[in-house]
Amino acid sequence: MRYGQDFIERVRDANNIVDIISQYTELKGRGHQHMGLCPFPDHNEKSPSFSVSESKQLYHCFGCKKSGNIFTFLETYNGYSFVESLEYLAGRAHIEMPKLSENKDQKSTLSPSQKTQMFRANKFAAVFYHQKLKNLAADHKLMAYLKKRKLTDEIIDDFRLGYAPEGWDELTQNLAEKKVPTSLSNQLGLIRPNKKGGHFDLFRDRLMFPIFAIDNNVIGFGGRIIDQGQPKYINSVESEVFKKGQSFYGIHKTSPHIRSADQVIVVEGYMDLLALYGAGVKNAVATLGTALTEKHVIALKKLTKNIVLLFDGDQAGRVAAERSLIHFFSHDLLPQVYLLPEGVDPDDYVKEVGREEFVEKISKGRDLFLHLLGDWMKSYGGTPKDKIDMIEKVSPFILALKDIRLKQMYVEELGRCLIEDPKKIYAWMNTQKRPTQSPFAAPEAEEPSLSEKISLEKVGQDELVLLGLSLKSLKYMEFFIRNQGLESLSHKPLQQLFTEVVAKYGQDPKAFDKLAHLVISRVENPEKIVNLINLSSEDEGFDEDASLLKECFIRVKDRFLQRQASVLVAQMKNQPDDLKLERFVNIQNERKALKELKNTPLGEMNGKRE
Ligand code: UTP
Ligand code: MN
Repeated sequence: MRYGQDFIERVRDANNIVDIISQYTELKGRGHQHMGLCPFPDHNEKSPSFSVSESKQLYHCFGCKKSGNIFTFLETYNGYSFVESLEYLAGRAHIEMPKLSENKDQKSTLSPSQKTQMFRANKFAAVFYHQKLKNLAADHKLMAYLKKRKLTDEIIDDFRLGYAPEGWDELTQNLAEKKVPTSLSNQLGLIRPNKKGGHFDLFRDRLMFPIFAIDNNVIGFGGRIIDQGQPKYINSVESEVFKKGQSFYGIHKTSPHIRSADQVIVVEGYMDLLALYGAGVKNAVATLGTALTEKHVIALKKLTKNIVLLFDGDQAGRVAAERSLIHFFSHDLLPQVYLLPEGVDPDDYVKEVGREEFVEKISKGRDLFLHLLGDWMKSYGGTPKDKIDMIEKVSPFILALKDIRLKQMYVEELGRCLIEDPKKIYAWMNTQKRPTQSPFAAPEAEEPSLSEKISLEKVGQDELVLLGLSLKSLKYMEFFIRNQGLESLSHKPLQQLFTEVVAKYGQDPKAFDKLAHLVISRVENPEKIVNLINLSSEDEGFDEDASLLKECFIRVKDRFLQRQASVLVAQMKNQPDDLKLERFVNIQNERKALKELKNTPLGEMNGKRE
């Protein structure tokens, strides 16, 4: 089940992209045009080249060429999925999300307002702890500890680190004064019941790490003892809003860096993450003291496919790496692993070698599967039983891969290690399991699915420009329609999509500004089209656009005519007749005439045939 287009449009209309983007960068309004510094961290600019159109509800950066609408902004900037963006925007506008009939995911049983209350209480606690830290005397033991761990003011502020005071119930009382229901604070694990029927603070005399979700909601806390003592960390209990097995520490600050670096470094500790960040390695996340789960992998995959596991080289680190492999493989991800020398953690390491050497070393990480295979091969003796054992050990991983080429590659690698025919290995693997398609057979043709987004990979530049400009200005759209632009398109899925666009425009020309959103919702990497709607005001550069439009149109049309001509030629070989010949001559004349249209004013240009 998916949300209907009407609902999506209602949510989009209820939010203004200018308000949303203003949360991340300061925009200065010029009529409908708003300009500011590009908010995306990989585009660190000094003078504003990021523009937002209020009337079209689109953004475009003239510098880094990112563009899109309110949904793609949240997806790119916050790493939201489309549905998460929709939920967020609906929540902002107080629009209730419709219930989808077959919702296979067992969703939270909490209403949005209950969740909001929990986030509010957590945020209150985070501010409380942070203020406590900020107000500590310079000779407090925590100050020395922060210094020792190189936790600078910048990190303390960026990550809102805090201090849970020594007393038993300072937070408990503050929460009560704020009228946060006791049951809620309890549920969040901020307070615990005492024997006398009252409550006490769970975190006392600890360095506090608030844990933020990617959208900046505080979901839980970790609290470290100051310097020595046990337990080293205590963490919030699992709750409706805090699930360790699907959350990462640091992600709210690092997701933009992960996207722009197109790589994520996964570490295991709060301190590791902060040390990397402090050293300028900002494309990292930390797990929360649990193994990597499939949900973690799914969350990472939304940000990047390039994953580096940076674990301690001890037994625990190796086991953690091994256990994660199956989750990566079942999503066709091939992580790299970099194991540190025993007893060294990423925190020590990055502080010792510095950013440059660190990045350099990390880039030499090994493919996790090959690394594990190397480990397993250490105890391999080459007997037939060893062979079978090895194949049994490896087969669940390989069978978890969906991409047939990857299966083939790894089976071949295993074949080289075992000096055995890969085909035979694969057959053995499948004796244990229900056979899956052999990677050595010809792959079956994939069925295109309706819900799949249109890839623009194979679309020619002329077609992209033509379509982008048609979405930019009403005049260009009219031109495109008048000159039968649709039939000239060679890319069938795009032709289908623009048939819808043109139909929608025909129904309501006033809705022209919304047409781009339809395209954005249906294609992969929509910026390839949308960045052509570059949001410079229509009058500036109008002539340039018009001549570009003409040039592209002429080339697209010419190729279309050429295709038609060659079809006719082929038909005439079988069955020559005068009618076909006449059509062929017409087409050739039309092609000649088309070239002369370059100098014709746009309004008079009309490539009508027949
Ligand atoms: P580490 O022991 O490696 O912690 O545990 P660390 O982050 O490097 O901290 P320092 O350097 O010793 O100060 C890794 C992670 O395991 C979880 C925490 O999430 C920690 O960051 N953990 C560890 C706990 O939850 N409880 C513990 O008692 C220890
Ligand atoms: Mn450590």
